[in-house]
Amino acid sequence: MNKHAIVAGNWKMYKTSVEGRNFVEDFVNLMLNIDDVEVIFCPPFSALFNIDVILKDAPYKLGAQNCHWENEGAFTGEISVNMLESCGVDYVILGHSERRHVFNETDEWINKKVKSVLNGGLKPILCIGETLDQRKSNETKDVLFHQLKEGLSGVEKLDEVVIAYEPVWAIGTGETATIEQVGEAHKWVRNILSDFYSRDIADDTSILYGGSVKPENAEELFGIKDVNGFLIGGASLKIDPFKEIILTVNKKLKG
Ligand code: 13P
Repeated sequence: MNKHAIVAGNWKMYKTSVEGRNFVEDFVNLMLNIDDVEVIFCPPFSALFNIDVILKDAPYKLGAQNCHWENEGAFTGEISVNMLESCGVDYVILGHSERRHVFNETDEWINKKVKSVLNGGLKPILCIGETLDQRKSNETKDVLFHQLKEGLSGVEKLDEVVIAYEPVWAIGTGETATIEQVGEAHKWVRNILSDFYSRDIADDTSILYGGSVKPENAEELFGIKDVNGFLIGGASLKIDPFKEIILTVNKKLKG
């Protein structure tokens, strides 16, 4: 079972390169004592390089929010895994609901990206989650099954893969899924992974929750059995709430 937790901040399309660098510099200067929590900053592409320079001497990781599956080519506006790697990136968020629903990314594309990220030696954070309509019509379990099946097709080893369950209706809405809903969904995800791989592999996989995580609900959410950390949007854009959530997770890990 996981003995450590991951807290990732997905900044989406917020913060310029200078704002991002200043933010991370301020965060690093807090000198938090959080040995068991892996903190990942996922800024826009334009801030990656500047932040990598600061993270050289800090125990935090850098993540990107998307990538293309090809190494190079005539793909205007896209970025490849080796380009991200050259900016010091460790993780890549893939299949985020905004990519799926605003930019119409398909499971097939997401799967190609997952494999490309793994082949490039980086770690995918594969996002899955149902819409409100799908939840209302009791399709949540099926949706998660299909997104995992397609997204992980041809992926033989899971040890470098992180899964993030983000119910679409709870993202940026202030509406958090209930403890029961999160617990049930995470258990489904772990059982699906166990069926695809093995119980041990599923137990060792980090499954993050995302969707209106804030200091006020972090303790309760992290208390859920199959929640191994968070993927945070809004609350990762300011130092205080992000720090509070990380300290809460760290405290709960220490028991
Ligand atoms: P919020 O925390 O703003 O709801 O966003 C969640 C998210 O989409 C993280 O990837």
